[in-house]
Amino acid sequence: MGQNKCYRIAVIPGDGTGPEVVAEAVKALDVVAAKKQLKIEKVYYDLGGERYLRTGEVLPPGVLDELRGHHAILLGAIGHPGVKPGILEKGLLLELRFQLDQYINLRPVILYPNVDTPLKDKGPEDINFVVVRENTEGLYAGSGGFLRRGTPHEVAVQESVNTRMGVERCVRYAFEYCRRRNQRKKLTLCGKTNVLTFAFDLWERVFYEVAAEYPDVQTDYAHVDATCMWMVKNPEWFDVIVTDNMFGDIITDLGAMIQGGMGIAAGGNINPEGVSMFEPIGGSAPKYTGRNVINPLAAVAAVQMMLDHLGEPSAARLVEDAVKKVVAEDIESLSAGRMGHSTSEVGDLVADYIDRV
Ligand code: IPM
Ligand code: MN
Repeated sequence: MGQNKCYRIAVIPGDGTGPEVVAEAVKALDVVAAKKQLKIEKVYYDLGGERYLRTGEVLPPGVLDELRGHHAILLGAIGHPGVKPGILEKGLLLELRFQLDQYINLRPVILYPNVDTPLKDKGPEDINFVVVRENTEGLYAGSGGFLRRGTPHEVAVQESVNTRMGVERCVRYAFEYCRRRNQRKKLTLCGKTNVLTFAFDLWERVFYEVAAEYPDVQTDYAHVDATCMWMVKNPEWFDVIVTDNMFGDIITDLGAMIQGGMGIAAGGNINPEGVSMFEPIGGSAPKYTGRNVINPLAAVAAVQMMLDHLGEPSAARLVEDAVKKVVAEDIESLSAGRMGHSTSEVGDLVADYIDRV
């Protein structure tokens, strides 16, 4: 027997329901690893709201360097009701994305068979696209500040930072991804060229410049407001959408809803040259914490994306097929508390399907 491939995976369960869903995702990972003879070395990191409240540390020095030594990171959720908004989000989640230069946020919007979508008369053949969200710049860059804070003459400025380099590497990734994804090869730039005439002027110029190198990829453009409209009215028009950080954040929550909800939506924070991080995109859902009712399938789908990224597509397909089977045959709804099964039971079903293939 040949030598098993070994992957070092950093696991950050995080806040709220993060640990519960990560436990089920790791269950699936362990079973598929055994099946495919992959060796997974997991190192758990205690980061998040509890740690911050206990010690005042958000991302202790040294942890970042340790994370760089892994093949990938699996993240549960970040966000704690006892911590002022922004501290953990900016200090941990965005800090990881920025410091590890995970410049792509890849978010598939795929409706699986037998999953309910709120879109009337739309099915799996209509809802199947991927959003490539820029993940290190734009309004998230933290550029801006206050003037005369707390006075009647207060000024608050928050600027969208768009660099030629940052836009180009994102657009190039999107064209490459679109070319490889399937035979549709249609890439839509989502922007706001009619109002944001500086930022999206740059995006548009870069988009059509790079497009010249991809004559096999059909290009399209939609303003972000219209994108929201088409995602509801004609989602079948989309194959791959590329957009900036803020618009990508917003349209992927809409995307999660049309694919059946946060219970199934996963994403990857990708640095094609470095360490990438995979997560369910739904957040820490404090009100469901510790109740064993949250849907772990988004976290399991994050494992599938991680395996694809690591170059283990057959392992990824096993996980994906198990998720599809569970949603089609076992659970009543994707929503927390209405699955007809507990979090750990759903995790067991997934693990079982993988095991029995
Ligand atoms: C997401 C989240 C984050 C974001 C928050 C928690 C900072 O909404 O991953 O989409 O805005 O990027
Ligand atoms: Mn978001």
